[in-house]
Amino acid sequence: MGCGRRAWMLKLLLLVVVALAAVEYLFGLRTYLGTPAFNITQSTIETDVRKSQPWFNLPLFIQNTLSQNSTQSMTGQNGTEYVRTPHLLNKIMESLRNLVSEDTTQVNEQSMPVCDEVPPDLGPVTANKTEMELDWVEKKYPEVDSGGFYSPPNCTARHKVAIIVPFRDRHQHLAIFLNHMHPFLMKQQIEYGIFIVEQNDTSAFNRAKLMNIGFVESQKKKPGGWQCFIFHDIDLLPLDSRNLYSCPEQPRHMSASIDKLKFTLPYDGIFGGVSAMTLEQFTKVNGFSNRYWGWGGEDDDMFHRMKKMHYHITRYNMSIAVYTMLDHEESAPNPKRFKLLLETSKTLEKDGLSTLKYDLVHVEQHHLYTHVLANIDERS
Ligand SMILES: *[C@@H]1O[C@H](CO)[C@@H](O)[C@H](O)[C@H]1NC(C)=O
Ligand SMILES: *[C@@H]1O[C@H](CO)[C@@H](O)[C@H](O)[C@H]1NC(C)=O
Ligand SMILES: *[C@@H]1O[C@H](CO)[C@@H](O)[C@H](O)[C@H]1NC(C)=O
Ligand SMILES: *[C@@H]1O[C@H](CO)[C@@H](O)[C@H](O)[C@H]1NC(C)=O
Ligand SMILES: *[C@@H]1O[C@H](CO)[C@@H](O)[C@H](O)[C@H]1NC(C)=O
Ligand SMILES: *[C@@H]1O[C@H](CO)[C@@H](O)[C@H](O)[C@H]1NC(C)=O
Ligand SMILES: *[C@@H]1O[C@H](CO)[C@@H](O)[C@H](O)[C@H]1NC(C)=O
Repeated sequence: MGCGRRAWMLKLLLLVVVALAAVEYLFGLRTYLGTPAFNITQSTIETDVRKSQPWFNLPLFIQNTLSQNSTQSMTGQNGTEYVRTPHLLNKIMESLRNLVSEDTTQVNEQSMPVCDEVPPDLGPVTANKTEMELDWVEKKYPEVDSGGFYSPPNCTARHKVAIIVPFRDRHQHLAIFLNHMHPFLMKQQIEYGIFIVEQNDTSAFNRAKLMNIGFVESQKKKPGGWQCFIFHDIDLLPLDSRNLYSCPEQPRHMSASIDKLKFTLPYDGIFGGVSAMTLEQFTKVNGFSNRYWGWGGEDDDMFHRMKKMHYHITRYNMSIAVYTMLDHEESAPNPKRFKLLLETSKTLEKDGLSTLKYDLVHVEQHHLYTHVLANIDERS
C-alpha cells in the first residue's frame, strides 16, 4: 500500500517537472520569437495578418511564426542579416502553417462559404448511352468554361480535381462520356477539369504513359495546381453520385462494381478503370510505369508501386461504386505484361514520371474538355 503511494507520488512529481519544463520552454520560445530580428510590428499583424487570416485570435508569438517562413534570412533592426536555422519547433510551426493556409486560401479566394462536405441530393443516376453529337452536348452545358473547367458558382469547392482520360479511336464515346460526366461532377460541387489525352502515333496503345502525360499537362493548366487526380477510362460511366470524385487519405479504386463484370470485384488488388490519387501519392510512387504497351498490366503495376510506398487501396461500398460500361471491341492483351510486373519493385525509381518523354503535338481547349495530343515513341 505504502509502496503504491510512493510510486504515485513519484509520477506526480515527474508530471510537475515535465509541466515546468514545458512552461519554461514556451517562455523561452516567446522571447526567442519575440527578438527584433523578425521585425513584425504590431501594425503589420493588425493590418495584414488580422484581416486576411482567420487565426488572428492566436497568441501573438504564434502569429509571428505563422506569418514567416521557417528557414530564411531576414534583415534585423540594425540592418544585419539573420539566418534562422531549422528546428523542431519550426517544423511543427510549418505544419501548423500549412494547415492554416489550406483553410485560408479557400477563405481568401472568394468570400463564398465552403461547399458542404456531402453535397445535397446525391444518389443513383441514369446514363444515356445512345449515340449523340458533341455540338448537341455542348449546348446543354453553357456553365462549363472553355477547356472543360468548372467550379461551383455558389460555394467554394473543397476539392480541385483533374479528370485524366487516356484516349484513342473512341470518338463515338467522347460525347456520351462528356454528356454524362459534366452534370454528374457539377452535382458533386467540386472544382474540376476534364483532360482527354490522345496518343497520336501508331505504336500500341500506352494507357499508363498517357495518364502520366495528362498528369503533367493538366498541372500546367492550373495556377496553384490540382490536388487530386482521377484516372478515368472513357467507356465507364458512374451510376451513383454518392461516389464522390475526390481523393481520400489513401488511393481509391472507384470503379469497383461494373455491370459488364456482374457487379463483382475480379480481385482485391484491382486498380484499373477509374482510380483516384492525390498529388502527393502519385508523385511518391513516381506515377505510372511508361513501359506497358498494349492492353493490361499497368494498373497492377501501380498496385505494386503503391504497396512499396505503403499505401493501400480503399473503395466505396459496392452499391455506390457502380458503373456501366460502353460497348466496344476488346483490345489485344500485352503478352509482356507479366514479365514487366515482376520488375516493378526494382524499377520504380527508374521508370515513371522521372523518365517520362513525349512530343507534345498540342493542348487545345474545347468547350467541354482540354485535348492533349502527344506522340509517344515505343523505342524511347
Ligand atoms: C517563403 O520562402 C519561399 C521560398 O524561399 C518564398 O518564395 C516565399 O516568398 C517566402 N514567403 C514569405 C512569406 O516570406
Ligand atoms: C520594420 O518593419 C517596418 C514595417 O514594415 C518598417 O517600416 C521598418 O523600417 C522596419 N525596420 C527595420 C529596421 O528594418
Ligand atoms: C544588431 O542587433 C543585434 C540584436 O538585435 C545584435 O546582436 C547585433 O550585434 C547587432 N549588430 C550590429 C552590427 O550592430
Ligand atoms: C439521350 O440522348 C439523345 C441524343 O442522342 C437524346 O435525343 C435523348 O433525348 C437522350 N435521352 C435522355 C433520356 O436524355
Ligand atoms: C446559385 O445561386 C443562384 C441564385 O441564388 C441560383 O439561381 C442557382 O441555381 C445556384 N446554382 C447552383 C448550382 O446551386
Ligand atoms: C495525329 O494528329 C493529327 C492532327 O490532329 C491527325 O491528322 C493524325 O491523323 C494523327 N495521327 C494519328 C496516328 O493519330
Ligand atoms: C452498402 O450499402 C448498402 C445500401 O446502402 C447497405 O445495405 C450495405 O450494408 C452496405 N454494405 C457495406 C459493406 O457497408
